[in-house]
Amino acid sequence: MYRTDKDAGAYFLPDEDNGHRLILHRIKARQKRDKFRKGALAMKLIVYNYRPDELGYLKKFSKKYGVELALCDAVPDEKTVGAAKGCSCMSMLTTPMTAERMKKYYEAGVRFISTRSIGYDHIDLKAARELGMHIGNGSYPPDSVADYTVMLMLMAARKVKAIALRSAAQDFSLNGLQGVDLHNLTVGVIGTGRIGRTVMKRLSAFGCRILACDLYQNDEAKKYAEYVPQDRLFAESDLITLHMPATKENYHLINEKTIAEMKDGVILVNTARGSLIDTKAFLNGVESGKIGGAAFDVVENEAGLYYCNQEGKILQNRDLAVMKSYPNVIVTPHTAFYTDQAVSDMVEHSIESCVLFSQGKENPWQVV
Ligand SMILES: NC(=O)c1ccc[n+]([C@@H]2O[C@H](COP(=O)([O-])OP(=O)(O)OC[C@H]3O[C@@H](n4cnc5c(N)ncnc54)[C@H](O)[C@@H]3O)[C@@H](O)[C@H]2O)c1
Repeated sequence: MYRTDKDAGAYFLPDEDNGHRLILHRIKARQKRDKFRKGALAMKLIVYNYRPDELGYLKKFSKKYGVELALCDAVPDEKTVGAAKGCSCMSMLTTPMTAERMKKYYEAGVRFISTRSIGYDHIDLKAARELGMHIGNGSYPPDSVADYTVMLMLMAARKVKAIALRSAAQDFSLNGLQGVDLHNLTVGVIGTGRIGRTVMKRLSAFGCRILACDLYQNDEAKKYAEYVPQDRLFAESDLITLHMPATKENYHLINEKTIAEMKDGVILVNTARGSLIDTKAFLNGVESGKIGGAAFDVVENEAGLYYCNQEGKILQNRDLAVMKSYPNVIVTPHTAFYTDQAVSDMVEHSIESCVLFSQGKENPWQVV
C-alpha cells in the first residue's frame, strides 16, 4: 500500500476517490531544542495542498521550530480529513473551508487552521467562532504583489498581449498596437493598505498623477496620492487598480453602474479578488469599447481551476474562457504573490503561527 520515496523521505498512499495522491510525509525535527521546542513537541501539524516548491522551506522551517509535520498534497476536504487525525493544527491554502467541512476537522481533533495566504475569505469565520476553531492567516511583504501589479499595468497600457499574439503569428505590423505612457495617466488606487501603498510608491517613480480612496486615510499614502471620493476616482482615472479585500460590502464594487461612471477607454487592473468585479458587466464594458483594456490576476469562480493543470479540458468557467479570448484582456492564474521570498515567508509564518497557538502565546497571525 505504501511506497517510500527516498529522496523526498515521503510515503505515498494512492487515493482512489479523487485521483489525488495523498502523501504523508513525516519530517523529523533534529535540531537541538530552541525557544519554541517545548510547546511545539505537544503539537502535531498537518500541511495540506503542499507544493513541491514548498518542500525545501517546509524542511527548513520544521527544523528551525522543532515541529513534526505530516504533509498531504491533496486539498483538505471530506475525503482527506482522515489524514489530520491526531493533529491539533493544520496549514492549508485557499480551499473553501465551509462550516460542515470545518466541523469534520474539529471532530478529527484540529483546533487551529492556518492559511498560507494573506486573504482568508475562503474560511467561514462565523462557523469557526461558533465551533471554537481558531484561524490564522499568513503574511509576506507586499512587494511581490505590488511589483506584479505594476507589471500588469504596463502590460495593459502597452497592449503587450496583442503585440505578443501578433508577433507569434509573424505579423510585425504596428497598426492598432500604440500604447500610452504611464506618466501621462491618472491612476486610481482603491484600497491603500499594504499592497495599495506599495503600488503607489512604485507608481510615484513613473510620474503619474495618483488618486486614492479607502475607508480610512493613511498618512504614508498621502505622500504619493490625493484622496478623493470614489465617484471622483472613477470619473478622473485612466487606469484603476483594486487593492481591497473581498468583503460582503465590496462584492461587485465594479458593476454596470460604476463602469458607466468611468472614463471611456479606462484600463482596469485587479490583483485583489475576483468577486470585486461583476464579470458580466465587465465583459459588456469591453465589448462596447467603454473598457479599453484590463489585466486580472484574479477572477470570479477561480477556485478549483487555478493552480491545477486544465490542459485539454473544457474550461469550467465560461467568462474566463471569453476573457482569455480578448486581445486587450490579460488574465494570469493568481500568481502575483508567487516569488521565492513570499513562499518562504508563507511557510515559515504558518508553522510559527501554529507553534505560537499551541504554546498559548500571542500570535500576530491569529484572526479568530
Ligand atoms: N493576487 C495575489 O496573489 C494576492 C496576494 C496577496 C493579497 N492579495 C489581495 O490583495 C488585496 C489587498 O491586500 P493588502 O495586504 O493590501 O490588504 P490590507 O488589509 O493591507 O489593505 C486593504 C485596504 O482596503 C481598504 N478597503 C476595504 N474596503 C474598501 C473599499 N470599499 N474602498 C476602498 N478601500 C477599501 C481597507 O481599509 C484597507 O486599507 C486583498 O484582497 C488580498 O486578498 C492578492
